[in-house]
Amino acid sequence: MRIAVFGMGYVGLVSAAGLASWGHEVIGVEVARARLEALRAGRLPIYEPGLSSLVATGVAEGHLRFVSELKPGQGVDIAIIAVGTHDGDGGWQTQPIESCLSAIVPNLDDGAAIVIRSTLPPAFLPALRTLVAAKRAATGRGPVPLMVNPEFTKEGTAVSDFLHPDRIVVGQIDDPAGLGTQCVREMYHAIPETTPFLVMAGEDAVLAKLGANLFLATKISFANELALLCEAYGADVTSVVGAMGHDDRIGPKFLKAGIGFGGSCLPHQVTMTVREARLDGRSTPLFAAVESINDQRRYDFVDRLRDAAGGTLEGRTVALLGLTFKPNTDDLRDAPSLTIAEAAMAAGARVVAYDPMAPARIRAASLLPGLEIVDSVEAALRDADVAGLVTEWPEFIGLDWAEVAEWMRIPAVVDGRNALDPDAVLAAGMSYIGFGRQVGRVAVATTRRAAPWNDQLEWASAAAD
Ligand code: UDX
Repeated sequence: MRIAVFGMGYVGLVSAAGLASWGHEVIGVEVARARLEALRAGRLPIYEPGLSSLVATGVAEGHLRFVSELKPGQGVDIAIIAVGTHDGDGGWQTQPIESCLSAIVPNLDDGAAIVIRSTLPPAFLPALRTLVAAKRAATGRGPVPLMVNPEFTKEGTAVSDFLHPDRIVVGQIDDPAGLGTQCVREMYHAIPETTPFLVMAGEDAVLAKLGANLFLATKISFANELALLCEAYGADVTSVVGAMGHDDRIGPKFLKAGIGFGGSCLPHQVTMTVREARLDGRSTPLFAAVESINDQRRYDFVDRLRDAAGGTLEGRTVALLGLTFKPNTDDLRDAPSLTIAEAAMAAGARVVAYDPMAPARIRAASLLPGLEIVDSVEAALRDADVAGLVTEWPEFIGLDWAEVAEWMRIPAVVDGRNALDPDAVLAAGMSYIGFGRQVGRVAVATTRRAAPWNDQLEWASAAAD
């Protein structure tokens, strides 16, 4: 198939390269001149593991090319829209989708389909349906199927998420004869038959995407509230959720307590859901609580830095370990690190940060004046009064904490991701402050009496002297 993908950001570029790897002929359309030139020169505008080689192979094999606009007469079978819809102020904007449609709708051959992969506000669907139908009618040609195919890719594993999806959701915004659905099915020809291919109404597909992200965000805020209960009752949240996760109705994932969720998706989608509901006179108290619990985590982290630094941040040096919103990405969008650095500086601290992802350094420096970005973990930690682990990069997990204790003025670390072993950090001569964790306990492995129904290893906790 010949497929045009509009927007070469995270979603568009991963989709384009993935589709090219399945043998489709893919045209990546990018209007931003600098981004287009970088792509043509073989440089990726984003960091995503495995993407660079997938793009290079697609280009080398002649399956992928980049253009600034889709000229008429290209004979594309599918036009995918994957442009950003954030307005930069916590809201949605539909204008980028509308401008793509102006370029696409008049030029599509009969039989081709439009597939939207950008995140859409659900309330926009009726207007979108009308807009496309009106634009198409104005050309005097037959109707064009309009589909939505939400993406569920995670940054850091986006390439494998695209190539090996756990489900494909296809929403029919306007597809009375099922032709658009057939196009999407052919587009995913390389996906095994066993992968669920779920066809539904456009509204359902949009809410299936939103619902998945709201649920993940809810799990994280749930774990964070549970962590506070654990602190109140002297329990360790990692043991508690570890035990809960064995219940397959609950599952172990997305229950990690700490400074909460960041990134381009989860925070934005929770905030927008709450905001739009309020505008419509409806209330979403659960999602409002998810949002406020998450916001509070970042300030709670700063309070813990303050406590660890002796009750004040005035004149103290805070070493921030990590800036990106999670490991294996260079993305700083809605990264907790930036809120934390800003609040710590407002409280009088000097903030020195290190992140293993080099591009993050440049962008953070321009995003937050006053934030000092250094080139090594040692440069951040040397003479610091307190360290804050913000992103659980492997480099930080593997630190020699006895050595870190020597570098620092006050050897204390606040673990914003509950990623460190508290007892190992303590044994190295550092103070450890996590979220809902108990320190100074020793996990004792005991084997229950041999019995067929009772032969598992059980972990019991005992207070250390
Ligand atoms: C998310 C969705 O997972 C993905 O399906 C969707 O397509 C895009 O949005 P992403 O933004 O890449 O993906 O990040 P994700 O891995 O979901 O993590 C989001 C945030 O939650 C990160 O800041 C992460 O550190 C945090 N998180 C995750 C927790 O705080 N606790 C957890 O247990 C899991």
